[in-house]
Amino acid sequence: KQWTKEERYRVLHAPDEIIDLHRQIVKSPYRQHYHIQPITGLLNDPNGFVYHNGYWHLFYQWCPWGAVHGLKYWYEVQSEDLIHWINMGVGIKPDHDFDNKGAYSGSALVTEQSIYLYYTGNHRDENWQRTPYTCLVNMRDDGSLHKYSKPLFGPSPNYTEHQRDPKIIYHKENETYYIMLGAQSRDHHGRIIFYKSKTFNKDYEFAGELKVEGYEDFGDMWECPSIEHIGDVDVLIFCPQHLKLKDRGNSIHHNGYLIGHMDYETLTFHHDGSFHVLDFGFDSYAAECCANIGDDNKAVLIAWMGLPDSSYPTDDEDWSGCLTMPRELTIQNRRLIQKPLKGFEDLRQEALPLATKTLPTACELDLHITGALDMQLCKSDDHDGLTIRYEPVHRTITIDRSHMHKRFNIEQGESRMRQLHQDLNHLRIFIDASSIEIYVNDGEALFTSRIFPTKDEHGLVIKGQVEGQIYALDRAVKD
Ligand code: FRU
Repeated sequence: KQWTKEERYRVLHAPDEIIDLHRQIVKSPYRQHYHIQPITGLLNDPNGFVYHNGYWHLFYQWCPWGAVHGLKYWYEVQSEDLIHWINMGVGIKPDHDFDNKGAYSGSALVTEQSIYLYYTGNHRDENWQRTPYTCLVNMRDDGSLHKYSKPLFGPSPNYTEHQRDPKIIYHKENETYYIMLGAQSRDHHGRIIFYKSKTFNKDYEFAGELKVEGYEDFGDMWECPSIEHIGDVDVLIFCPQHLKLKDRGNSIHHNGYLIGHMDYETLTFHHDGSFHVLDFGFDSYAAECCANIGDDNKAVLIAWMGLPDSSYPTDDEDWSGCLTMPRELTIQNRRLIQKPLKGFEDLRQEALPLATKTLPTACELDLHITGALDMQLCKSDDHDGLTIRYEPVHRTITIDRSHMHKRFNIEQGESRMRQLHQDLNHLRIFIDASSIEIYVNDGEALFTSRIFPTKDEHGLVIKGQVEGQIYALDRAVKD
């Protein structure tokens, strides 16, 4: 489908404008059972992930009209347990001149009073020249949103128009609020820039560029940056664009992290050298964390299960994108370990034996493995489906989706391979109506991918020495 600029940037005035579209898309067999997905149109980045007064608040980048990156809103979802989510309606609307072409990604801060949402106002003038603004919205405890009438600040003149995705950080020791933004230098390198203020909602001044030694030439734009304190380290998470990396097929957009220590005085991220990819699957980007929660300092990550410049089979149905399962983060051997939240076990329904030939649409496979493995999931009579192979000599695990009936983003490569540090011994595989998440060795590696099985593609074949259980999973999101 070809979209005109008018169609992509059409303003949504009332919910009934999308009711017909919603009625039509909920009939899709690819609607997810336990993943956050758009009510209509396109979902991309998770935004403003925060815990406040017993509720998890989360927003996603949303274009109402179809599977197209047009006028972006923040759509709100809410949960008490991070597993069951309810739709709350539109959050931030692009209804001011400074955000006239989109309320782009950002983050949240909880103050003593209420929640504050920091986002990028994507302004374009009549010549389609872009000016990004950093903007603020107060979300009161009654759920109402109040946008500040002026942005906190505009773009820095020393970078291109690509300056966005504010992450708000309060640094206790020096009692300062920092806003970090993803940016692009004038010679087209990915950068992170900092602003600071003593007051969370005014007087921000440019503080400088983040020094990340060895990463001066690493992609042409860094989107969605953040720094999280997890365990006793700082983690710098960002999305470098237009970059080729080992083990990433022909993908050019990535989401990964460096581990180290953030020095806010000198704006230097001291790290131990290696950029680690967050997820080895095909579709994962723009991860957002909510860290330092509760007495046990829990940290949770959720990401967009999709990629920029990509298309998916449901595009024809006028919707696209979903979020990943939220995952609990810990640090082990200076790596991020991502595990399914404990609460997902409560979705388990009846247990099925491993000899099961046909998988339920939403299910979990909990497998203990010795030696080589050769698995086919979503198999049909004439297609091998999604294959997972483990080869013990080189300790390599390979995921291949080229044998599914519906193939997409083929040019990015259809298989992903990863060498493990230790033998494969455990897989937890979460399948939903149109996705698969494969947790390897309790968090050593993770492969997240969209898949779109046809109605015949639900077969299971396991070759190898495997014990374990399959569980059908209950619904946790409503349409
Ligand atoms: C990342 C991104 C962000 C931007 C948003 C717009 O996917 O490009 O940099 O704020 O999406 O929807």
